[in-house]
Amino acid sequence: MSGHGPAQVMTATKSGPLAGRAEVPGDKSISHRALIFGAMAVGETRITGLLEGQDVLDTASAMRAFGAEVTQHGPGAWSVHGVGVGGFREPENVIDFGNSGTGVRLIMGAMATTAMTATFTGDASLRKRPMGRVTDPLALFGTQAYGRRGGRLPMTLVGAANPVPVRYATPVPSAQVKSAVLLAGLNAPGQTVLIEREATRDHSERMLVGFGAELVVEQTDEGNMITLTGQPELRPQVVAVPRDPSSAAFPVCAALIVEGSDIFVPGVSQNLTRNGIYLTLVEMGADITFENPREEGGEPVADLRVKFSEMTGIEVPPARAPSMIDEYPVLAVVAANATGRTVMRGIKELRVKESDRIDAMARGLEACGVTVEEDEDTLIVHGRGPGSVPGGATCATHLDHRIAMSFLVAGMASAAPISIDDASPIATSFPLFEGLMTGLGATLTKA
Ligand code: S3P
Repeated sequence: MSGHGPAQVMTATKSGPLAGRAEVPGDKSISHRALIFGAMAVGETRITGLLEGQDVLDTASAMRAFGAEVTQHGPGAWSVHGVGVGGFREPENVIDFGNSGTGVRLIMGAMATTAMTATFTGDASLRKRPMGRVTDPLALFGTQAYGRRGGRLPMTLVGAANPVPVRYATPVPSAQVKSAVLLAGLNAPGQTVLIEREATRDHSERMLVGFGAELVVEQTDEGNMITLTGQPELRPQVVAVPRDPSSAAFPVCAALIVEGSDIFVPGVSQNLTRNGIYLTLVEMGADITFENPREEGGEPVADLRVKFSEMTGIEVPPARAPSMIDEYPVLAVVAANATGRTVMRGIKELRVKESDRIDAMARGLEACGVTVEEDEDTLIVHGRGPGSVPGGATCATHLDHRIAMSFLVAGMASAAPISIDDASPIATSFPLFEGLMTGLGATLTKA
């Protein structure tokens, strides 16, 4: 929901070795999709391991507003009684997605080809983010959108009463845009074709096939071409949500930079469209072993054993960006504790996340005594070596959970403590972050 509680200042102080087992929460992307696809299936979908972060809870509320029955049975255990493709009921009120770009963009797609009107809003962060990237392709189906200047929320969508199928090449690498188009294509007749030049996370494609949609992915000269046959009857599923590789990156990176650390992080998704951060860390010299690789809930997972490492800066291949797009903030913290420069190019998408993440990391790291360079599409961090970040600053988090967690990780290895101006956004994706990190031995204090 919009509006967090009061700002909660939090401080991380240089930590002794981190040790133990870190059970990170369920994957955020898959959790949203399990609720949405479940709501569009006919019958009862059962979910285990659902992330109970605020973003996903807001998606659950939205699915209720559209007529699905969504019930919590126990921690992470949920069921969704779906209404079928095209079966949504018009919501009675404005739908508030809080901080969640994924929730609002996917659900705009899901309702876009049903004859109804819905109005969407969000918190101060979400109301700044561009929605045109989703409403432009939805217009091709026949959907009308009326938003604020620059395609900003609050925004009203009038779903297409007689949708037509669409062929669309995404101009930005975005799984949210791709997924919105596929969700809209579900209730359009015929075949909707989506082409993406750079592969982004593929959870929608995998899950749509699991729910019984006819969906084919082909590699072409233009990139991945996804063909979806509209108006299927989706079959309810049992969804076991794997642990989130993006959330796991925080304890993993903390262990890598806090001297003497040795932690175990079980059951983390290693989906190839999500594992760029792990490839990058290993290239920098990280001591991570990927134990017991297996398949869980239709996703490849592994148990990670992570030890403190002396790392070296690298040039991160720009082509890897979509597979680690949410991990650049915490990578910048690792880079500050590595030796030499880490060059991150091809990352301008970071400027339209929950905050402008290039700017937020650059300003915060500078305040902590780290030299950085940036341009529109690039962040370069000059590493100071293991445990050599001065710290001693309060960093602004701009309602961005990943900026908040990144600077707390930084403070676990810096000479002087690092504070963040507001820890409350962490609850959007990782509500148990504080307990998990202090359980490993970190010192986090609230003002
Ligand atoms: C997401 C896609 C990514 C990512 C976000 C989750 C998803 O956003 O940053 O945290 O679940 O589809 P973009 O589609 O804007 O790249």
